[in-house]
Amino acid sequence: MIFPRSGVLIVLGVTLLFSGACEIERRKSDAELALNPQQASGRHIYDQYCDRCHEAYSSHKRKGPSLQGVFKREYFSVSGMPANDQRARDLIVFGRDKMPSYSQELTQQQIDDLLAYLHTL
Ligand code: HEC
Repeated sequence: MIFPRSGVLIVLGVTLLFSGACEIERRKSDAELALNPQQASGRHIYDQYCDRCHEAYSSHKRKGPSLQGVFKREYFSVSGMPANDQRARDLIVFGRDKMPSYSQELTQQQIDDLLAYLHTL
């Protein structure tokens, strides 16, 4: 440790730990996640429209279920529908329960990009 007052750093570290270190974990870049251009575009859309309700990189629940590994499961966790592109597309276009419909906001292309990104989770 180069700092003489490393005790301060330890206290700071512990404080950060207890204030939810996961929340402030550094955001990975698209390159670090090895996203291709379509997936990166999907991530951008996700951040704009979906992130406030869905956690992408932890199993934490927000207003909606975590989408970590969403297409690696056989069924969607809440509705129990098969976890495939068609069902996910319907969900995004029509909404369900507290999940809003995005038929006005998103184009087919944007939904394609979103799905490509969700497959990387
Ligand atoms: C206002 C909060 C909210 C927003 C914003 C939102 N969702 Fe949801 N989402 C939900 C809720 C609540 C559910 C559970 C709905 C159900 O099946 O009854 C859900 C379910 C889902 C599911 C099924 C997951 C599972 O395991 O059940 C997917 C996939 C999904 N959302 C994708 C998206 C995408 C993509 C966006 C952005 C375009 C988005 N959501 C925006 C609230 C939200």
